Amino acid sequence: MKKILVTGGCGFIGSHTIVDLIENGFEVISVDDNSRSSQTTLLGIEKITGKKVKNYKVDLKNFEETHAIFQENKDIKGIIHFAAYKAVGESVEQPLMYYENNMFGLINLLKCVKEFAVPYFVFSSSCTVYGNPDKIPVTEKSPTKKAESPYGATKQMGETLITDFSFIEKTNSILLRYFNPVGAHPSCEIGELPLGKPMNLIPAITQTAIGKIEKMYVHGNDYATRDGSCIRDYIHVCDIAHAHTLALQYLINNKNHSNADIFNLGTGDGVTVLEAIKMFEAISNLKLNYEIGPRRPGDVVAIYANNNLAVEQLGWKIKYGLKEMMQTAWDWELKLKREKDLLKQQAKLN
Ligand code: WQD
Repeated sequence: MKKILVTGGCGFIGSHTIVDLIENGFEVISVDDNSRSSQTTLLGIEKITGKKVKNYKVDLKNFEETHAIFQENKDIKGIIHFAAYKAVGESVEQPLMYYENNMFGLINLLKCVKEFAVPYFVFSSSCTVYGNPDKIPVTEKSPTKKAESPYGATKQMGETLITDFSFIEKTNSILLRYFNPVGAHPSCEIGELPLGKPMNLIPAITQTAIGKIEKMYVHGNDYATRDGSCIRDYIHVCDIAHAHTLALQYLINNKNHSNADIFNLGTGDGVTVLEAIKMFEAISNLKLNYEIGPRRPGDVVAIYANNNLAVEQLGWKIKYGLKEMMQTAWDWELKLKREKDLLKQQAKLN
């Protein structure tokens, strides 16, 4: 059984990918400093898979502690690297923190890949590397323009770093460019746990609907799109997770054409903010409390994927549509509220 190291394994996409890897016969260990995630996520993974996943609570910026993980696990066959800060707005306010965290962590990891000759490396990249595209849908050959944020810049630099490294070290790497990962595992045992006020659209919708947030704002409805609001390619987190398993299997079976093949992970369908809200209202039978607000700086007007490469080369089949994305996100929010109410009741009884 091949052992895979997942960095950021307690996070949103990392945890869903661990479930998929285990269900496809891989042995998994995680490294996550839990600065933006919780170890309780591992309990959810265990409930779904029956497997206890070991997490090394290590900051990848600490080379000695990162190196020690590889000393202890000389049989690591592959790495899937999620651990990074990813809030676009925060990255604009704190660029140095983003460049230090996202780049130093990656560099330390690659030093270990080299020393321990780890053959397979999958990188969590992002459609933000395309900037504001001139032509949509974007293919993997679409030009990467100046990133709209330091976050996007760290993804662009990460891709360059890994490509140069993999070419010289003959590592087999893959760069997966996610569009907008949303939703939650159908079991409701794992899902997205945004820290503080959610930046992203779907958690903002579900937290407004559940009452955690009084009202949400649509950031602009005066764009040149069919209803004036921005267009994105929302993709279920479980579909994203399975693409990572397929990417590893693609490398293990020597199907890659270069040392850093690139794949878009999106549905290929563009959905506007207002359409996403309408879909949520339809599945929840609720009227969402929102207002049209000002545009958000750095927002891309419209982007969605041409995903042919991932479908044809990885054998990727998308299972979830927008309805299920909204339904699973809402079910997860409802579950979190039930758990919170239960804790409140227990506190009253004690
Ligand atoms: C989507 C749309 C907002 C909140 C994300 C991740 C980034 C990357 C790409 C993976 C925009 C609008 C949002 C709200 C709103 N993913 N919106 N009101 O900016 O596309 O980037 O996906 O790497 O890491 O951040 O996603 O969900 O923030 O915004 O109107 O309260 O929803 O303006 O048009 P974005 P998002």
